[in-house]
Amino acid sequence: MAEDALFTGIDIGSSFVRIAVGQRLPSSEKDRMHVIGAAEVVSEGINRGTINSIEDAVSSVSACIEKVERMTGTPIQSAWVSISGSNVTLLESKGVVAVAKSDGEIREDDVDRVVGAAETVATPVNYEILHVIPKSFTVDSQKGIKDPIGMNGLRLEVDAQIIQGLTSHIKNLSKCVYRTGITMEHPVLGVLATADVCTTSRQKELGVAVINIGGSSTTMVVFEQGDILHMASIPLGSDHITSDIAIGLRTTIDIAERVKLQFAEASSANIGRSEQINLRELGAGDDELVGRKYVCEIVQARTEEIMERVEKELKKIGRAGMLPAGIVLTGGGAKLSGLVELTKNKLRLPASLGYPLGVTSITDRVNDLAFTTAIGLVQWGMHEVPEGTKKRRGVNVGKQMEAVGAQFKKLFGGFGR
Ligand SMILES: Nc1ncnc2c1ncn2[C@@H]1O[C@H](COP(=O)(O)OP(=O)(O)OP(=O)(O)O)[C@@H](O)[C@H]1O
Ligand SMILES: [Mg+2]
Repeated sequence: MAEDALFTGIDIGSSFVRIAVGQRLPSSEKDRMHVIGAAEVVSEGINRGTINSIEDAVSSVSACIEKVERMTGTPIQSAWVSISGSNVTLLESKGVVAVAKSDGEIREDDVDRVVGAAETVATPVNYEILHVIPKSFTVDSQKGIKDPIGMNGLRLEVDAQIIQGLTSHIKNLSKCVYRTGITMEHPVLGVLATADVCTTSRQKELGVAVINIGGSSTTMVVFEQGDILHMASIPLGSDHITSDIAIGLRTTIDIAERVKLQFAEASSANIGRSEQINLRELGAGDDELVGRKYVCEIVQARTEEIMERVEKELKKIGRAGMLPAGIVLTGGGAKLSGLVELTKNKLRLPASLGYPLGVTSITDRVNDLAFTTAIGLVQWGMHEVPEGTKKRRGVNVGKQMEAVGAQFKKLFGGFGR
């Protein structure tokens, strides 16, 4: 198998580093991607998605690379890498250029120039552009054009969204990946890669919120009419549930985690008062009986708090209880039993779990909600590199749009160009 046919995504989370390797399926296939390898290792040196020890982070990423390489039998050379949702800003921008050709036909380089013009926004000194997402073009006075290439006009405008990330954050991430001996293609805002693979273009048109519940934080992105309407990072994740259980049961974090994984339910309503958990079976020194209902009450309180924070974000954009395609829950924390029901009740919206769509695999990791971001990064890479070439789409907006189509507009990283 040709090496350039493989795409790698590295999701550096605060609980685990996860890597997925996939290849493009022929366009005749119903599915878009075949995942040939996926691995995870417990992450060290990463907190709230930010690297706080380069050395530790490098060894976690290296260990994960080795693990996945053993699985696929092919060395990884480059990867798309997730960047966390904290400290990123979303802003709207406009670009305007005159069409270069005298016959007035709009070419790819006009599109590149106009997008370049939209990129010239005031960036705070410690921030840099992560993504430029063209929303729609205007040719002369005709608005709302999705793909202007081949059209005629004198003046080309673009409305774009710019996502900026903290420079130090991006630099540390690229340093970490570089030290493992592989090339970082682009840092990609994790939640965008996640949303890309677990929602349909129709959901994004109608209005949908993708909520990724990680260990230390919950990140969300809301789409409407195919565009990003809002993004937020809430500093509460599933690890907070574990800590609450540890405090409530006066036990260790490790035992509390096992209690959560084996016995927790998002809602305590259906748990009988007589159900008991013996902590000795989970590693405690002595017999210690705790009520499962009590555990689930603790879990419910924190889960509801997370959902209240999500609701607060939806209120900011006037979409509380008002997203027709509802909520898509993903990330390791979304594996909590009963979460979908609790979300529906709390947010008064349809809710479902966000498994990767259009993916086949030799590993059942694709059905693990914690792997959605890593798999989303593989798909992101496929969108950026046109089929049959090695050319990156970073500057080739028109073609990329064709490939991704209405599904996710044209997305490309502005980093490192
Ligand atoms: N079956 C389960 N039930 C409840 N919680 C679970 C389950 N499986 C995993 N989790 C929790 O999911 C969390 C980890 O999620 P994930 O692996 O997505 O985080 P991460 O990506 O490493 O972190 P972050 O995105 O915050 O940087 C942990 O708190 C873990 O306890
Ligand atoms: Mg994560």
